[in-house]
Amino acid sequence: MKEQIQEILEEARRSIPSCVSDKDLEELRIKYLGKKSSLSDLLSKIGTVSKEERPQMGALLNKTKKEIAQLIEQKKLDLHEKTDTSRARGLDVTMPGRPLPIGAKHPLCQIWEEIEDIFINLGFEVAEGPEIESEYYNFDALNTPSGHPARNPQDTFYLKGGKLLRTQTSPMQIRVMEKFKPPIKIISTGRCYRVDKMDPSHLPVFHQVEALMVDEGITMSDLKGALDSFVKRIFTSDTRSRFRPHFFPFTEPSAEIDILCINCKGAGCKLCKKSGWLEMGGAGMVDPAVLEEVGYDPEKYTGYAFGLGIERIAMLRYGISDIRKLVTNDLRILKQFQ
Ligand code: PHE
Repeated sequence: MKEQIQEILEEARRSIPSCVSDKDLEELRIKYLGKKSSLSDLLSKIGTVSKEERPQMGALLNKTKKEIAQLIEQKKLDLHEKTDTSRARGLDVTMPGRPLPIGAKHPLCQIWEEIEDIFINLGFEVAEGPEIESEYYNFDALNTPSGHPARNPQDTFYLKGGKLLRTQTSPMQIRVMEKFKPPIKIISTGRCYRVDKMDPSHLPVFHQVEALMVDEGITMSDLKGALDSFVKRIFTSDTRSRFRPHFFPFTEPSAEIDILCINCKGAGCKLCKKSGWLEMGGAGMVDPAVLEEVGYDPEKYTGYAFGLGIERIAMLRYGISDIRKLVTNDLRILKQFQ
């Protein structure tokens, strides 16, 4: 009988700690301690044991029952501790989580990337350049004479050591042509700086996208074609562009670019100040003096360039009438463009 009791105890020591639910544990309790358990069975047969051994067996049976009952009790606590600690700590894992506010790309970045994608699809490569420039790249190499009003410190931020904050992305024309031979077909986007008071249409820090194409036989119709393709893609497919004669030191002829008002389609409205057209930027055929400066033969090569304001494009696309809304980081405004 002693061996039988020992066997039962060992089995119980193995099976009870490995059980995983209250239900299994209850089954084990019935199995080891219930009325029909083998221990109860042995207890009822205690009379068959010799008189001398009987008290010893009785005591062993009781001790075993006690140990098994303790094992079960301990296991019950273990099981409950596992499922209940989170609740005990005041955490209800069944509750839905608190939503975290999700951020989004700034509207200006969204447009910026879209602009680059469109030009990449039109076969342009993207070139990046410095915001701190020399007078040479920002003005001299771009055929801008020393007395030109744009060079005035009232318009341009000058830094120590003859450097300045670029006032336009056009210096990238020079940097790219200096480095590569034609054919050139690039855009360059980025921050520009001008000494301007903030108002509904001016920021001292703004963004431009510059395009430059130079090869044999490039004409103004290539310029018009590239611009038209771009404005049709960034706005709507019925958007038209037009040139208005203008002057830039680094292009000849030069033009200002307008697009047909995206709001009234030319009828005249508040947005276009009844003119039917919206100003978008500057353009022209690269001046032969600029080509010569970078060592290109102006007899062999011609090129076009244009520069557009990215904030202007963003304002039109998003229907923002005050440019400052793009930089004041007002979440109520930014959330509209998520
Ligand atoms: N850089 C000029 C500006 O900022 C725009 C421009 C670019 C004009 C390229 C002609 C060609 O106003």
